[in-house]
Amino acid sequence: MIQVADTHDGADRAADLRAVLVDELRGRGKIATAAVEAAFRRVPRERFMPDGTDLTVAYGVDNSVVTKRDEHGVAISSVSAAYIQARMLEQAEVRSGMTVLEVGSGGLNAAYLAEIVGPQGRVVSVDIDPEVTARATTLLEQNGYGDRVRVLVADAEHGVPGEGPFDAVIVTVGAWDIPPALLDQLRNPGVLVLPLIMNGVTRTIGFRRASEHLSSTSAEVAGFVPMQGDGRHPDRVFLLPDGNGRNVRLSFDSGAPREISRLDGVLATERVERWSGVTIDNGVSFADLHLWFAWFLPGFCRIAPDEGTDLAAERRWFPFGVVSGAGFAYLAVRPAAEGEGAEFGARAYGPDGQRAAASMVEQIQAWDRDGRHTEPTFHYWPVGSDPSLISADAPVMDKTHGVVTISWP
Ligand SMILES: C[S@@+](CC[C@H](N)C(=O)[O-])C[C@H]1O[C@@H](n2cnc3c(N)ncnc32)[C@H](O)[C@@H]1O
Repeated sequence: MIQVADTHDGADRAADLRAVLVDELRGRGKIATAAVEAAFRRVPRERFMPDGTDLTVAYGVDNSVVTKRDEHGVAISSVSAAYIQARMLEQAEVRSGMTVLEVGSGGLNAAYLAEIVGPQGRVVSVDIDPEVTARATTLLEQNGYGDRVRVLVADAEHGVPGEGPFDAVIVTVGAWDIPPALLDQLRNPGVLVLPLIMNGVTRTIGFRRASEHLSSTSAEVAGFVPMQGDGRHPDRVFLLPDGNGRNVRLSFDSGAPREISRLDGVLATERVERWSGVTIDNGVSFADLHLWFAWFLPGFCRIAPDEGTDLAAERRWFPFGVVSGAGFAYLAVRPAAEGEGAEFGARAYGPDGQRAAASMVEQIQAWDRDGRHTEPTFHYWPVGSDPSLISADAPVMDKTHGVVTISWP
């Protein structure tokens, strides 16, 4: 094991790993510009990690490192993975001389930003948690960025009074909605990058402001710690008992069925299944299918079975389900009839299990026909937007401060 150390060897090793990381991020298309590359080459990533973090973990492309958990053990602060930090900096189109806001502090991303905007620019980093801002302030000072980043305690739901306007805002925490106060502080045109949670599925979206509304220019798959404070939006969670003292947890972002009690006892009923004929090659991502479900499958939920339930014992299942009347179905795969890949389908329980499975399979087929291989674009329309600007046939998702529409060509 290689430990972070201030020895000459440790510093050399970190520099080597930094170079490898940059090459990998370039190779994977996460770093695209010279400015982001230079920032990743300069900032000593390991020095912003918790003490004792293995150097190889600090420089892993996909590793996020938890820095704080709540009383239930849920991660509430972390150093984001290198791939998503790089990608968000690119999505934000940050350039020399800009004024940029980072929501969610930690130090590392603010240091990258400081490198990119340079001495003519300005970086403000806010966090709701004073412990996080204190740590970020110390780390930025220790690493020479103290006078280039202003770190403040603030709940992003209320913007950052006295600061802005910003050319770019990068939100590094899962957001269910876009706070109007933050939008008010974004220049027009300006770029807002945020991990937007849409019916339980997150996309880190690069939005360009066009007058009062926002249009996406990019979207990336990523997970983030949840928003705290006045903008938090907890899921509604139901436990589906299996009759043996174990449960399958169903989490609904919005639109939880009103008569969820109709599911009582369904896990004890005979399981049924339906197959879609839609296949996927091994190792190919189907994250877009989850997003499709989130938008187009009524009753969609995320699921987590306790160890020991039949569902957990199944070798290949995915944490997505649907409730329809007195039926519950979940996404499953089986080996494809031909070739090496897998076929998607649904397994279901309850008197309406066939109906629930059919609704899921119908959307798998719709995704295969209309959504697969194409990138959706997103628009955000704050409350008060001119309704005539919103395409009448665009699918709409309601938020508190506006609506999101999607166009999936
Ligand atoms: C993933 S961490 C930030 C990582 C950081 N940008 C970095 O590069 O290391 C997310 C942070 O968002 C903060 N946060 C959560 N809700 C917030 C809110 N409403 N306003 C501001 N910060 C918030 C959390 O305290 C947490 O520290």
